[in-house]
Amino acid sequence: MAIQRTLCIIKPDAVRARNQGAILQQILDAGFNVLAMRQEQLSREKAEGFYAVHKERPFFGELVEFMISGPVVLAALEADDAVPRYRELIGATDPAKAAEGTVRKKYGTDIGNNAVHGSDSEENGKIETQYFFASELSS
Ligand code: RTP
Ligand code: MG
Repeated sequence: MAIQRTLCIIKPDAVRARNQGAILQQILDAGFNVLAMRQEQLSREKAEGFYAVHKERPFFGELVEFMISGPVVLAALEADDAVPRYRELIGATDPAKAAEGTVRKKYGTDIGNNAVHGSDSEENGKIETQYFFASELSS
């Protein structure tokens, strides 16, 4: 086991539905430590930069519009094996396919409105937590 960092974003659909408290509690109950956290209205530039890997995908425009449609909660999480453990906690990208009890099953609506983001590799966990919390976290 190794200590990893992962970026949690509670997306605009979940913030609008006032589920940010319940989602954070589920994350805390699962043993993750919150290193830094804030609510933020993402600019188009910041959202496009964050999702640059998906630039060529057909859903990129829709994804960016959604991510700037209201405030998000950003949290840098740390735990042993944080990346795979957090992906397991949030469930599959499509809430309809997510396992019972996962965050996306409980709070997501569809593949776009899926409540939360999670980093997909140890390297991206470092990059993404630094992308939003460069001044708060040492790398
Ligand atoms: P995330 O990055 O948000 O944690 O989600 P993920 O790894 O499970 O999925 P990813 O493939 O990275 O896609 C990023 C987000 O784009 C939206 N999406 N829409 N309409 C579509 O077919 C489609 N596919 C993906 C989802 O909101 C997904 O979380
Ligand atoms: Mg992803």
